[in-house]
Amino acid sequence: MTPEAAQQKIAELRAEVARHDELYHRQAQPEVSDFDYDQLKRALADLEAQFPQFASGESPTERVGDDRAEGFETYRHRQPMQSLDNTYSEAELREFHARLGRVLERESLDYVIEPKIDGLAVSLTYEQGRLVRAVTRGNGVEGDDVTVNIRTIKSLPDKLKSAADAPVPEVIEIRGEVYMTLAEFARINAEREEEGAALYANPRNLAAGTLKLLDRAEVAARQLEIVLYGLGYCEPGNMIGETQSGFHALVRKWGLPTVEKIWTAHGIDEVWAAVQELDAMRHDFSYATDGAVVKLNPIKLQRDAGSTSKAPRWAMAYKFAAERAETLLKGITIQVGRTGVLTPVAELEPVQLAGTTVSRATLHNRDEIARKDIRIGDHVYVEKAGEIIPVVLGVNAAKRAPECVPYAFPERCPVCATLVVQLEGEVALRCPNYECPVQVRRRVQHFASKGCLDIDGLGSAMVDTLVDKGWVRSIADLYRLQRNDLLTLGKSVEKSTDNLLAAIATSKHAELWRVIHGLGITHVGAAAAKDLAKHFGSLEALAAAKYEDFIAGKKESVINGIGETMALAILAYFQKPENAALVRELRALGVEPAAPEKSAPTGNRFAGKTFVLTGTLPTMTRDEAGAKIEAEGGKVSGSVSKKTSFVLAGEEAGSKLDKARTLGVTVIDEAEFLRMLSAE
Ligand code: IVH
Repeated sequence: MTPEAAQQKIAELRAEVARHDELYHRQAQPEVSDFDYDQLKRALADLEAQFPQFASGESPTERVGDDRAEGFETYRHRQPMQSLDNTYSEAELREFHARLGRVLERESLDYVIEPKIDGLAVSLTYEQGRLVRAVTRGNGVEGDDVTVNIRTIKSLPDKLKSAADAPVPEVIEIRGEVYMTLAEFARINAEREEEGAALYANPRNLAAGTLKLLDRAEVAARQLEIVLYGLGYCEPGNMIGETQSGFHALVRKWGLPTVEKIWTAHGIDEVWAAVQELDAMRHDFSYATDGAVVKLNPIKLQRDAGSTSKAPRWAMAYKFAAERAETLLKGITIQVGRTGVLTPVAELEPVQLAGTTVSRATLHNRDEIARKDIRIGDHVYVEKAGEIIPVVLGVNAAKRAPECVPYAFPERCPVCATLVVQLEGEVALRCPNYECPVQVRRRVQHFASKGCLDIDGLGSAMVDTLVDKGWVRSIADLYRLQRNDLLTLGKSVEKSTDNLLAAIATSKHAELWRVIHGLGITHVGAAAAKDLAKHFGSLEALAAAKYEDFIAGKKESVINGIGETMALAILAYFQKPENAALVRELRALGVEPAAPEKSAPTGNRFAGKTFVLTGTLPTMTRDEAGAKIEAEGGKVSGSVSKKTSFVLAGEEAGSKLDKARTLGVTVIDEAEFLRMLSAE
């Protein structure tokens, strides 16, 4: 290649890599797979090495991606946060060891092998053992302060445990990875699919997107997790032991979540054996693991090896390439969801992929099929994203038969033939027919399912029968079923019929949250349903709620765990006449769900007092504080008025605090609250 051509190519690749960096780090919506991105970056690095005259100091190969986003304060790390060099090849991993041997002038080297968690890096600062700050990697030098969001992670302690063999340093910055479990990812994507929103490609993108939400309640509604694996800064500096494996043990003793398992290895052969062992077991982990991180174990040797501008020389990520397969797309079927969303599904010639046979894969929506120009009869590439859902990546154009025509997405619902519609701001097409048999079936199935009303004997097949017979057209019809009709379903069905009717009758008095969950309101899962049940106490009260009952002044949630997105979905649900009618019908049919019991107070310190809680408290959630208030005979209210006795305010308190000040209501912090609780 001529220097001119190389210069041109380098410029193109730099722009391309920078574009993908932006999509990945800032928008959490990459267009290409990690593997393709790594290949592109490698091609650029190779060219830059071959033509050093075009070094700029500004190339994406010389810096870490930047995740800083609008709406966050930035914070400077005490020690820069670096990235890792990576490879997909065993030979390069061996070369990494050989290079370290040369640099450190040693033949034998000890390593630690850790799972590489596919999430996003954060740095936590604990001062005097208390969590004071959580910051994303940002550009490596400074990152976004995401403390408020990080505090929603239940498994992360606010206070480190101290032990004789694990004293807690004055100040420590600990690095780790925020991630989302595969199960939580699947739950959220299933919900998105119903809503017709674009699906998240993998748990990493969703975790990244979640951590950068500005609404804490929304963050709390999606469960994030964290593991800690590295040291950033420590004061005094001699308190973290001499090895990386020892540091892991310390982190664990302090009560912080750590990786599932680490391996120690002597020499590169043992390293390679550990990497393979990890590869074999990683599919059983609760999170996506995209590789192994190999680190020198002795911390002194890590220091001796040092770093480049971007990454340490003492560590290397060995990445597992996602398995791909090529197969024939035999057809496209359309599934209709509970809310009428049409989801195209690829029907594939069965193919082996990452240990399972794949015969179906999601095609997401009409736009995705058009963007990738996927046609029936094409040979397509399939990959397992985030280890679970197979997706069609694209088409092998070379194998396209001339008779393959572009795919025409159906204009009518495949079930009830109603013309489909596209709602504003949505990618999905929907069947607008509320009475479409599939929608009815799915709604009733959801209502009767284990996580909702848990009606024995009312499984999917039974629901299908009831809908097909025309006896059930809505949830309310379940409570109108006639014994005589049911007895026509077969011989000797008397007992099962009576059991079913008894189970349906019992469900009339199920816990309120089950009914709320059972309605299938977008975004409202079991946890939110419980919060709503506790707050509103009846279905009617929830149905009558207004925006202000959910969201106050500066977009602050009135109810813990219910953010604006959820509030809007609830309001939209009850605005629909058919849903408002359903609530009335259920009541008329005798459905009277049990309101959550308030536990009787055990003390009376706060008898007659009303508290309003706002902001993030340092050591407890608002729910916990609320429970303590109620246990002492006090009341918790969502809005501040002259009658409010105290406003208990934490960090980032919003409009409620302003209002308390205007009205002259006493404002207390958590420390004062705890004093009041323990006062004689
Ligand atoms: S060590 C200076 N260990 O992978 C050392 N990183 O691709 C920096 N990651 O930026 C990181 N699991 O976000 C380390 N066990 C692990 C990791 C890990 C995941 C992430 C981390 C890093 C990225 C590099």
